[in-house]
Amino acid sequence: MRISVIGCGYLGAVHAACMAQLGHDVVGIDVDERKISALARSKAPFFEPGLDDLLTEVQNTGRLNFTTDIAAAAGAKVHFVCVGTPQKKGENAADLTYVDSAISALLNHLAPGDVVVGKSTVPVGTARRLSAQVKDTQFDADLVWNPEFLREGHAVADTLHPDRFVYGVDNGSEDHRAVAILDEVYSTPLSTGTPRLITDHPTAELVKTAANSFLATKISFINAMAELCEAAEADVTQLADAIGLDDRIGRKFLNAGIGFGGGCLPKDIRAFMARAGELGADQALTFLREVDAINMRRRTRVVELTRQLCDGSLLGKRITVLGAAFKPESDDVRDSPALSIAAQLQLQGAVVTVTDPKALENAARRFPELHYEADTDKAVRGADALLLLTEWEDYRSLDPYELRSLVASTTILDGRNVLDAAKWRAAGWVYRGLGRP
Ligand code: UDX
Repeated sequence: MRISVIGCGYLGAVHAACMAQLGHDVVGIDVDERKISALARSKAPFFEPGLDDLLTEVQNTGRLNFTTDIAAAAGAKVHFVCVGTPQKKGENAADLTYVDSAISALLNHLAPGDVVVGKSTVPVGTARRLSAQVKDTQFDADLVWNPEFLREGHAVADTLHPDRFVYGVDNGSEDHRAVAILDEVYSTPLSTGTPRLITDHPTAELVKTAANSFLATKISFINAMAELCEAAEADVTQLADAIGLDDRIGRKFLNAGIGFGGGCLPKDIRAFMARAGELGADQALTFLREVDAINMRRRTRVVELTRQLCDGSLLGKRITVLGAAFKPESDDVRDSPALSIAAQLQLQGAVVTVTDPKALENAARRFPELHYEADTDKAVRGADALLLLTEWEDYRSLDPYELRSLVASTTILDGRNVLDAAKWRAAGWVYRGLGRP
């Protein structure tokens, strides 16, 4: 099938490559020349494991092309809209500028029977509004809302083997003509038994925001327990293991630490609260304000703990932050708790060096005032304290004995609770976890 993918960021670039891998003839379109020229050379403009290899593989078949020209969408049967919906400046609501301009640009190139498929995360009600525009063209096109659940760092596998497909169509019905077309697009993963749910437009939009809100709530729940564990001298990692054994709770997403960040969870829960307010249902989501507040408190807590570990003053202390990305296997620093903590420490007088296997360039663009060092050994040399804030394997596997001779003071704060406390203490380190005695 001929497919266009509009927006080639984290979501669209992966989606375009995966659709070509499934055998479709794909054109990826983006207004950003830099992104398009990198993708045309099989270079992802961001770090995502396996993506460069996949781009090379599918571009060699001739089934994947990239362009900045929206007119290239003409002739495709299915058009995936994968543009970003960032948080509006100075507000909680989502900024729909990119979605609106993608749809209006696309309208000029639709043909009868085309299917426009929205994948971006949007406030509930957006699909109904856009559907009216798509139907209102002289052509008889349909809009399906088909939310994407991919995780950065696992994006290729999540796209090719998703947990489920959700198709939101205007009549919410299985016999909608767009359902069969989307089934053809996803025929390979559907043939392996991937569940597929047909809903109406608002339900499909809400599935995405509800899923992300649940995940954010689960993380803030365990971080609230970490606060209690700190007050009661209990261990949140053991608590999580024990409650996680209950199938109804489950151990995944119960890792206490410095909290969630990234381009999705923080802005999605805020946009959800803003939208609920507009709908007169704000009370239903007041708990998300607490989820957000607990998450933000983790960052201040780490700054305070670091001060304690540095004998009560951060002034002039040399702190090395291990990890800048919002999570491992990603170079994304959007709302990264690690980087936000690093910047806070610097503002409070510490001399901060940040290291990360992939995210230093993005980090330096965001916070140019911090000092960056790619080599871990050089980064830790002379440090008064180490802070492990993004749990890359490189840092999880650090040897406390080898590291001793490099630092000025054998003090480590494990912001992700991933190190073996007993081993580090046995090697002579002052070890602090979060929510652990
Ligand atoms: C998330 C959703 O998982 C995905 O389904 C959605 O499509 C987009 O948003 P992503 O932002 O890639 O994906 O990251 P995710 O793996 O969910 O992690 C989010 C944040 O939570 C990270 O900062 C991570 O470090 C943190 N986290 C995760 C915890 O602090 N504890 C946990 O137990 C799990």
